Amino acid sequence: MSQYTARAHTNIALLKYWGKTDTNLIIPTTTSISLTLNEFYTDTTVWFDEQLTADDITLNNVSLQGRGYEKVTRFMDLVRDRANQHQFVHVHSINHVPTAAGLASSASAFAALAGAASAAAGLSLEPADLSRLARRGSGSASRSIFGGFAQWDRGHDDQTSVAHALTETVDWPIQLLTLIVNDQPKKIDSRGGMQNARANSPFYQQWVDMANAQVPAMQAAINNHDLVALGTLAEANALQMHAQNMVANPPFTYLTDVSWLIIETVKALRATGIPVYATMDAGPNVKLISQPADTEKIMVALRKVLPEIQVTVATPGPGIQIVQ
Ligand code: DP6
Repeated sequence: MSQYTARAHTNIALLKYWGKTDTNLIIPTTTSISLTLNEFYTDTTVWFDEQLTADDITLNNVSLQGRGYEKVTRFMDLVRDRANQHQFVHVHSINHVPTAAGLASSASAFAALAGAASAAAGLSLEPADLSRLARRGSGSASRSIFGGFAQWDRGHDDQTSVAHALTETVDWPIQLLTLIVNDQPKKIDSRGGMQNARANSPFYQQWVDMANAQVPAMQAAINNHDLVALGTLAEANALQMHAQNMVANPPFTYLTDVSWLIIETVKALRATGIPVYATMDAGPNVKLISQPADTEKIMVALRKVLPEIQVTVATPGPGIQIVQ
């Protein structure tokens, strides 16, 4: 059988997805908007093999076990059913994420898997169909099919809940400085965290209404290359998402004292006229939306409070590619 390798880049949500109306189909409560990143990606190779008696799945050359294995096998079952192809499969994935970046994300993983597995199964899927398929592995993966800015429309069923590119080519100066606060696996994964927030936050419906209402303003900021509007909205959306966790019963948070120290530093930098904004996902690491011309000044301010902080510059990246 033919072997295919797909490369998909990770993405960071500027307007977050934080909750599902359907946990099996992965239909989100809100429309989300992201930026795909050039520096972080996953390469996944897939081929079917009639000799196998079970799926053979490796990540960074180590055999995958437990929940991770089950998630990939269940995803492969979707592909097998669709292609009427019932052999077991080899899935070999390499995550190209700087050591300890703490950004290894299910987004690039399931987007690359969707691309390589569908090609190996002989399915020839359009980008929208690939996005729907990737969504079934992990919601944020639906956006990693596309480069640049992408929007995942929440929709209401398998057909309508799909991502599309807003602008694939980003020809204006925007970057994400990714700050590594902690590279340990998180205690509550995003799947569990968003379920907790949805079930136990008294303000959850307000989050849904507010986040959906932010979509046109974020689109306008992207169209206008308006870093201030984009960053202001992204930071507000991220804090609103994290607030849902903090007011849940029982409360929980991904943010640590170091995350908050960075957020305060960013506010102080803004007070001096530098456009820099923070966004955080299901972990303590902070990404700073900024322009390349300000990197040095931002680094100096950060090093004053956190001399050891590890920083990687991430720039806009491309959509999924079949690399061989
Ligand atoms: C905070 O896509 O990892 O990064 O669909 O359950 O696999 P599942 O969740 P996942 O959640 C990502 C949450 C987020 C925000 C975002 O990327 O939109």
